[in-house]
Formats: sequence, C-alpha cells, structure tokens
Amino acid sequence: MEIATETCGVQQIKGRRRLVLFPLPYQGHISPMLQLANILYSKGFSVTIIHTRFNSPNPSSHPDFTFLSIPDGLLEHQASTKDIIALNTVLNVNCVEPFKDCLAKLLADEDSNVACLITDVMWHFTQSVADSFEIPRLVLRTTSVWSFHLMVNLPLFRASGYLSIQEEPVQGHPLLKVEELPMFKTHNLEDLYRLVSSVVKEIKASAGFIWNTFEELEHEAMTKFVQDFPNVPMFPIGSFHKYFSASSSSLIEQDQSSITWLNTRSPKSVLYVSFGSLAEFSETEFLEIAWGLVNSMQPFLWVVRPRLIRGCSEWLEDLPNGFMAMVNGRGHIVKWAHQQEVLAHFAVGGFWTHNGWNSTLESICEGVPMICLPRFADQMVNARYVSDIWRVGLHLENKIERGEIGNAIRKLMVGSEGEELRQRSNELKENLNTSLRHGDSSCSCVERLTSYILSL
Ligand code: UDX
Repeated sequence: MEIATETCGVQQIKGRRRLVLFPLPYQGHISPMLQLANILYSKGFSVTIIHTRFNSPNPSSHPDFTFLSIPDGLLEHQASTKDIIALNTVLNVNCVEPFKDCLAKLLADEDSNVACLITDVMWHFTQSVADSFEIPRLVLRTTSVWSFHLMVNLPLFRASGYLSIQEEPVQGHPLLKVEELPMFKTHNLEDLYRLVSSVVKEIKASAGFIWNTFEELEHEAMTKFVQDFPNVPMFPIGSFHKYFSASSSSLIEQDQSSITWLNTRSPKSVLYVSFGSLAEFSETEFLEIAWGLVNSMQPFLWVVRPRLIRGCSEWLEDLPNGFMAMVNGRGHIVKWAHQQEVLAHFAVGGFWTHNGWNSTLESICEGVPMICLPRFADQMVNARYVSDIWRVGLHLENKIERGEIGNAIRKLMVGSEGEELRQRSNELKENLNTSLRHGDSSCSCVERLTSYILSL
C-alpha cells in the first residue's frame, strides 16, 4: 500500500505535543478543520493532517503542518457521485486500512509525541482505530448544533413513524416542518440510518466534541445535546473563521476581481449571491435566478460555480441571451470568490445564500442580512433559524421564480424590512464578537480545550 508523505519543511519543535487531524473531503468540512488546526497550532501544538486523495487540500498553503495523503480507493463514478451518503459509506470502508497504516507509521516514530486524534464526526470508523492504538479521539462537527441534533435523532423520528407527513411540524420544534429535517437524497435510505447510528455510537466513545458555533447562538441546542451525550465534553469554540481565514483551504481558485469590482460600488448597495460548493440547480431554476437578479434592478456579485447547473459542464452558456447587456455593469459574475473578504466589504448589503453552516456563520459574523434558499441537509434547519429565530434573513420558501426573487431582493436591499433585518444583523454580530474577546465564552473555551487535550 502506497502512502505519500509530504512534510512541507515542518520542523519538529521539541516538546510540542502533536495533533493528528482527519477532515472529511468536502470544502465545507476541510475549511473548518484547517481553521481548527491553525487555532490549535497557535496554542502550541504541532499538526499533522491525514487526508484522502479525493479533494486533497493543498499542502503548500499550510507550510506549518505535515500532510499525509492516504489512498481512498474511490472509483471514478464513486468520486463524482452526488449521493453524499453513499460516498461517506464507501469512504468509511475504503479508508480503514490506509488510515490505520498511516497512523501506525506515524506513531512508530518515537518523536511523534501524539496527544490525540481529531476527526470529522462522520469518520466513524476512526474511533476503533484510535482505541486500537490507545490514543484519544475528539470529533469535530462542522454544522450547527441544532441541525446535527435533529440528524442524530432521525432514526428515532423514523421509529415513531412520523417522517412520512412532510407538512407536519417537528416534535419539539414547532417552527420546523418534517420536510426541513436534515435529510439527504440517497439511493438507499438504510445507508443514512446506518451511518447516523454508527456516528452516534462512536461519539459516545469519543473523548470530546468540538463545534464550530457560539454557545450564545445555540445555547438551547447545546443544552439538549449535552443531555443526550452527558459523558462527552463539549467545546463550542466558533466561529473558526474569526480566528483564521478559510481562504488558504479553498479547493477552487478565488477570483480577486470580486474585490476590485466591489471597490467601485457604494456602501451596502450590492447583493452577494453564492450557493456554496455542492448545491445544484436545474436549467429552469438557473434562468429564474438570472431573471430575478435582472428584474430586481439591484447591483449583485454572483458566484456561478462550474457545474452549478445540473448536468451542464460549461460555465455561463445558460444565461439568457443578452444578459450582461441588460445588467449593464450592475452585476459581476465569478466562478469562485474570496467569500469572507466579500462579506466584510463595505459595498455588500445582503447575501443570497443556500445557508451552508460556514456561509451562515460568515454572514452572521459580518452583520450581513440574508435571503435564504436552502437546498438540502442541514441547510434547511439553518435557514429556518436565520429567518424565524435569529430574524436576520428573509426565507424564499423555495419559490425559485423571477417575480418572487425580484421582490425578495428589493425588500432586503432597499425596503424597510431589509433595514430592520440589517439592524438586527448588526446587533447579533456585536453580541457574538463580544464572545470572541478574551474572557468570554468561545475564547475561554479554546483555552479549556487546550488544557483538556494536554491532560489526556
Ligand atoms: C457543505 C454543506 O452543503 C453545508 O450545508 C454544511 O454545513 C457544510 O458542508 P457547502 O455547501 O460548501 O458545505 O457550504 P458552506 O458550509 O457554506 O461552505 C462553503 C465555504 O466555501 C465557505 O467557507 C465559503 O466562504 C467558501 N466559499 C464559497 C468561497 O470561499 N468562495 C465562494 O465563492 C463560495
């Protein structure tokens, strides 16, 4: 078995304890794991990242870390599948031996000084590997606590027989409908329930749980989670991007023209539009989005990721004829942006988002109000919280229709409702930023996590 090793010129600092991190190979999971690596490196740990070849991070962007690549055995059709549950299931089988082998080699080095393993919570097989080497394993969850709490309860919801009535409110969450539970489209639903059960079992065996969230934002969810997992220490230390930017872990090159274009616009005038690294739209939906943007008459910066349109390999070929002429300089389109810089830019006044958790947190932390268009999984729960609980966004209620879109954009960017949302977004931002200052919760939680790891 081949194991490629790249050390990127890392010097072993004598006496430093080493952390071994293993991210799930998706943009929305790799970025927070590498941000966590940076946070813990700054606290005095050495860092080794074990990663799959599929969606490999770029080691040269992180010269302080050691990167170890393991073969993931994915066939071409498996690597390109949209069925995330099927892919996770295969990866949790294929990676067992390569991961074990890699860890064994690392631990055989008497200078390795490994304190613990930190893996994405979805890598459930790693708990038994950690046990076999007698090293502690902590898990990282990259979504909100609420959405994950609902996900781990899916088998219970199913057993009580009420997953079939899509319009029903969720027990204990009257604002959520059953159709908004964090479900995935998968060819075999049994895979999902098996995956969730394995994840839950291995969380219980883990040495701790790290969250990219603020205790203040999700206090109630955290309380429930602690009740369900009373023996697992919890560390809500988000938002990671406030400590370290995610830009160096971007799998796609970020187009800097977004910022030069934004520099020419007036304050809070631009709607930023992006639907993350995985969401897709049909050609019809894409056209409605395009017409909605034109009809709104508001300036926009739009991230059209290649393959954003289902089944299309080209980039902007599906835009309506004469689209750029109609927009007349009022809009700018890129394949991928430096999202955190964009959201922090003075010209950005709103974010039309799919509500992936990273995007949601990045928007909340910059005080940018949102238009919510969730597509799947945790995004549905995040969107409901943004619109109905934290009240910092408008929910499009999946109405991907040009008239509805144009109205929502105008409401957010120039209406009085938008002004109220902007004000509340700013208040929330201020409250959360306070928590990052020394002595408050997220910050002191990082100190608590550091001491805890050193005590293991
Ligand atoms: C996925 C899931 O869809 C999401 O629901 C889950 O919470 C994490 O995994 P993704 O869809 O990519 O992630 O969304 P999100 O969590 O928002 O992460 C996207 C990341 O890409 C963000 O950190 C964002 O800053 C970055 N990004 C996005 C860019 O750097 N440039 C862009 O143009 C768009």
